[in-house]
Amino acid sequence: MKIKKTVEELDPYVPGRSIYEIATLYNLKPEEIIKLGSNENPIGPSPRAVEAVKNSLNDMNRYPESDLSDLIREIAAYSEVRPEQVLVGGDGADEILDVLGKTFTEPGDEFIVPLPSYMYYEFTLKIHGAIPVFAQWDVDNNQLDVDSVLEAITSKTRLIFLCTPNNPTGGLIDKEDIQRVLDNTEALVVVDEAYIEFSGTDNVELLNDYENILILRTFSKVLGLAGMRIGYALASPEIIQHMYRVKPVFSLTKLSYVAALATLQDKGYLEHSRKASVDSREYLYQGLEEFSNLRVFRSYANYLLVDVRRTGMDSAQITEELMKRGVIVRNCSSFRGLDDYWIRVSVGTIAQDQRFLEILKDILEQI
Ligand SMILES: Cc1ncc(COP(=O)(O)O)c(C=O)c1O
Repeated sequence: MKIKKTVEELDPYVPGRSIYEIATLYNLKPEEIIKLGSNENPIGPSPRAVEAVKNSLNDMNRYPESDLSDLIREIAAYSEVRPEQVLVGGDGADEILDVLGKTFTEPGDEFIVPLPSYMYYEFTLKIHGAIPVFAQWDVDNNQLDVDSVLEAITSKTRLIFLCTPNNPTGGLIDKEDIQRVLDNTEALVVVDEAYIEFSGTDNVELLNDYENILILRTFSKVLGLAGMRIGYALASPEIIQHMYRVKPVFSLTKLSYVAALATLQDKGYLEHSRKASVDSREYLYQGLEEFSNLRVFRSYANYLLVDVRRTGMDSAQITEELMKRGVIVRNCSSFRGLDDYWIRVSVGTIAQDQRFLEILKDILEQI
């Protein structure tokens, strides 16, 4: 038996820690744990989505629809594009990354990722035999080093990932910088807008002017459905048609389908969800700013990146102390491009942020 070389050599992806895992490890009650590690939506799903799922439970014996036109129409309206510009994925935006690998890369082709950024690009694309070429995100100024992206382009570049707001730094990419990249390559530029609703801007209008752009989105963040695993892509009809050829046909479950549709129809939830997160982000930012030994970065997403090196502890020690006390944040030491002194804290409810800040204060006073 011979395992594929790209799989044999692959470093495993390190996901955020789960509530169940931490409850078991530290003998805590799951309901007491505050999870600020995976940029989920702390207010819960839309009640209409919950109702829709309940009403569909008895259809579980049937395969999902392969025709997703209702949902596609709804996503198109929400995103202000035409339905033929939409592809829906059933394992979140992560599935779409895999479909991009299948559709656009041959073994030996290159893809560009500015560092630090979302680690799943590298993980997924490598499985397809594609080779990462790293550019830079200027962390101090929290902006893309666009020249480093342009310099990384070669005749083998097939995909360029631009994450805006960037995970884990929270900075936005200027539209002009995205255009500069688009103007200087024939590769597909993937603009990852997983967190775009928290930023008050977007890049959809670029779809009118460029053929080589794809916008990646998810239902896991502002739309509150991380557990239902729904993602979507916006691009030209030609790109979308080719991607549909290789996308797993039934990957979007029936329950995810009805939950997604009901959420988009719940305008009150959409507005409340966005506003609650933006308000709470400001609260959390102000709270973290008060610690003289932390450096916190302004963010346009639902998380904040924090440099902890002046505390005398590294990120592993701080995350461990927080977990013992029932708070999960992301230790960023597995993020390529960051060293061992960074944590990423997701925005919770204001009550959760407050509790986190109190616990952090206790920990930092003890050293
Ligand atoms: C930047 C970015 N892109 C894509 C994703 C994948 O989202 P999904 O849950 O839809 O797979 C995430 C998830 O955290 C992310 O942070």
